[in-house]
Amino acid sequence: MASVTLSGIRKVFPNGFAAIRGLDLEIGDGEFIVLVGPSGCGKSTLLRLIAGLETVTDGAVLIGERDVTDLSPSERDIAMVFQSYALYPHMDVQENLAFGLRRRRTPREVIGERVGGIAGALGLGELMARRPGMLSGGQRQRVAIGRAMVRQPVVYLMDEPLSNLDAKLRVSMRAELARLHDRLGVTTVYVTHDQTEAMTLGDRVCVMLDGEIQQVDAPGRLYREPANAFVAGFIGSPAMNLAIAEVADGDLRLGDHRLPLTEAQRARVGARSQVIAGLRPADFALRAADVAADDGTSTAVRLPVEAEVVEHLGAEQLIVFPVDAPRYHAGPVAARTEDEETLLAEPARSRFTARLDVRREVRHGERVELFYDPARLYLFDAGDGRSLAREPAEAAG
Ligand SMILES: Nc1ncnc2c1ncn2[C@@H]1O[C@H](COP(=O)(O)OP(=O)(O)OP(=O)(O)O)[C@@H](O)[C@H]1O
Ligand SMILES: [Mg+2]
Repeated sequence: MASVTLSGIRKVFPNGFAAIRGLDLEIGDGEFIVLVGPSGCGKSTLLRLIAGLETVTDGAVLIGERDVTDLSPSERDIAMVFQSYALYPHMDVQENLAFGLRRRRTPREVIGERVGGIAGALGLGELMARRPGMLSGGQRQRVAIGRAMVRQPVVYLMDEPLSNLDAKLRVSMRAELARLHDRLGVTTVYVTHDQTEAMTLGDRVCVMLDGEIQQVDAPGRLYREPANAFVAGFIGSPAMNLAIAEVADGDLRLGDHRLPLTEAQRARVGARSQVIAGLRPADFALRAADVAADDGTSTAVRLPVEAEVVEHLGAEQLIVFPVDAPRYHAGPVAARTEDEETLLAEPARSRFTARLDVRREVRHGERVELFYDPARLYLFDAGDGRSLAREPAEAAG
């Protein structure tokens, strides 16, 4: 087992495209770190650079104390699982799982023990005698994961290994991977574009955008204290509501709504005339008492809205309401043109989502009053999107 150190990594492809633009990351020994971000942000490229499948343009890759920057993949003692994997078609599952170990002349008993253990954990026990052609896509993917797991290298690199599985199997495989990691303790770098997967699997999650790291933190902290508006909007489902608010007499104006600021928030806003305001869907409630600050210092803010859309999800309901303020959306450079077109079509209109309990069901088109705790308001710089309060909890006091 080993740590992985990336320092000053840049990757410029032969066509001149800079996929990784100067990146430092320290991955602890035994850590499970997840790389997450929108399509094209450079997750797979970074993984392939760690694996040695691509060469860095600048910077160094260390595995443990060893500088592996110029070493081939086979010299790095890593095992990889990719979204597109290839099994040996003429071998059955048992042989596919054992192949790598046999090639390394691992003793027969050790092979039997490891293959049996992994096959059991991944639910492949019944399928050991089948060839890949006789397996479903999901079963094949599990064999590919198992094949990497039996190796017990110093680092696992996984690129969207669960993407071919159906939703239910994905959840159970996710739990299985977490359990295997707890047991084996092998340093793991895991790529996904699914933020729920990232949040449930990672000791830490590294959020990337356009070849750069936006924030690396434990999942809870990423959710509570996003470093910027992009991370705020990317982590959490439904996504945080983000819109441009005007600063007026020490408070915020968001369309017709007045959002009062706490003293601490006021100090952070300073002389700005605009900020990006963020509110999480789960921070709204239908009763003021449900959003009172824990320490009782702030009173709930009342927001009269019209429920344009109501989605009943059983245990909760999502209501979508229009807000007469410009929508804020940070995304990859490549996707921005499309967003700008949407903005042009509807220049000053955002749609906010509130996630509410179902003690009282809201009807489509109904006017309701929502409440939120002012200390839960997130504030970001309107220019560069960076958070004005890395610690929103402070704002309450
Ligand atoms: N060989 C290459 N030459 C030029 N550009 C490339 C090459 N490989 C990848 N890219 C570009 O580098 C960027 C990052 O690609 P990468 O595959 O790392 O993205 P990703 O984050 O894994 O996305 P996804 O979630 O879609 O898999 C993309 O814009 C991609 O088009
Ligand atoms: Mg990828």
